[in-house]
Amino acid sequence: MSKFWSQVVRELEPYVPGEQPQIDGLIKLNTNESPYPPSPEVIKLMTHDAIDRLRLYPDPNSKKLKNTIAEYHSINAEQVFVGNGSDEVLALAFMAFFQQEKPLLFPDISYSFYPVYCKLFGINFNTLALRDDFTINLSDYTANNGGIIFPNPNAPTAIGKPLADIETLLKTNTETVVVVDEAYIDFGGETAIGLIDKYPNLLVVQTLSKSRSLAGLRVGFAVGNKDLITALDRVKNSFNSYPLDRLAEVATVAAFEDDAYFKSCRDKIIATREWTVTELEALDFHVLPSQANFVFAKPRHKNAAELAQYLREHKILVRYFNAPRINEFLRITIGTPEQMHSLIDVLKTV
Ligand SMILES: Cc1ncc(COP(=O)(O)O)c(C=O)c1O
Repeated sequence: MSKFWSQVVRELEPYVPGEQPQIDGLIKLNTNESPYPPSPEVIKLMTHDAIDRLRLYPDPNSKKLKNTIAEYHSINAEQVFVGNGSDEVLALAFMAFFQQEKPLLFPDISYSFYPVYCKLFGINFNTLALRDDFTINLSDYTANNGGIIFPNPNAPTAIGKPLADIETLLKTNTETVVVVDEAYIDFGGETAIGLIDKYPNLLVVQTLSKSRSLAGLRVGFAVGNKDLITALDRVKNSFNSYPLDRLAEVATVAAFEDDAYFKSCRDKIIATREWTVTELEALDFHVLPSQANFVFAKPRHKNAAELAQYLREHKILVRYFNAPRINEFLRITIGTPEQMHSLIDVLKTV
C-alpha cells in the first residue's frame, strides 16, 4: 500500500482473472476462450489501409456495429449499446442502474466480478443462495431491491435457466432493472433479447469473447429499451467516448456477418462438450448439466485442487476456485476434440 493511494483504492478488492501464462504447448482450458480462430473474414480486414486509418479516432457511437447487431437480432439500433468487452458494459450498467438505496440481488455463486463492481461503485448487495443442485431459484428474487443481475447460463456452474422463468421474474419485478448476463448463451441457452420490447427494465448483455472467438479484441454489447441505452450512453460519454477502436468495430461486424462460421464453431464446441461430459462421467466425475462452453465437474474420489495441480504439471490449465461450496469442482473450458482427448488421457493416468 502506498501513501499516495486514495481511500477508494485502498478499499478495492480487484477481480482476479484466469491466468494467461506463456508456456509452450500449453492446453489452456481455464478462461472459457474459444479454441477456434476468429472468422477468416475478420482476418481479411486487417489490411494495411485499416492499420493506416488507426491515425483517426473511431466512430464514438459505433453506428455500423450497432446496425449490424440490431439487424442480427431483429431489433432497433437505438436498443443497442456496445463497449470494450462485456465487462465494461456491465461496469457501466452497474453505475447507470444499480447505485440505489436498496440492495442489488445476485446469486451467491456467480460471476465474481459482480461484487467487485459493487465495491468500486459503493453499491449495496445481497447474494441469494443457489439451490442444492446449483440452479438459481429466481422465485427467491422477490425482495424489495435496487436491481437484479445473474448470468444465464450461470458461471461457473454452466447451468442455464429457461426463458419462461426469466419472464416470470420480469412480470413480478417491474420497478428495477434486471440484467441478464448472456456471456455463454450461444452454447445452448435461449436468449432473453426477444423480451426487451415487452419489459422496459430488461437489459441483456452479450459478448464476442466466447462464441465468436474474439476475447482478445474486447467487444461486448447490451440490448434493452431505448431509455436504458440512453442511460448507458450518458455514463459512457462521461468516462470514455471511444470504447471501441476501429479494428474492433470492423472485425465485430465481419464476425456477425459470417454466421455460417459462427454456427460451425459453436456446433463443434457443443459436440465436444457432450463427448467430454460422457468421458468425465466414466472417470467418476459429477458433471453439472452444461449449456456453456465449459463444464463444472467434481471428481468424486479425488481432491480437486490437487487434480488441477496434477493437470498443470501435464501442461493442462483448468480453473479451480477455492471458495465455499465449489472448492471440490474444476471448471474446464471446452477446447478442440484433440485437446479434450489429451485432458481425458491425462486424467486416466491419475
Ligand atoms: C458471466 C460472464 N460475464 C461476462 C464476462 C466478461 O466477458 P468479456 O469482458 O470478455 O466480454 C465473463 C467472462 O468470463 C463471464 O464469465
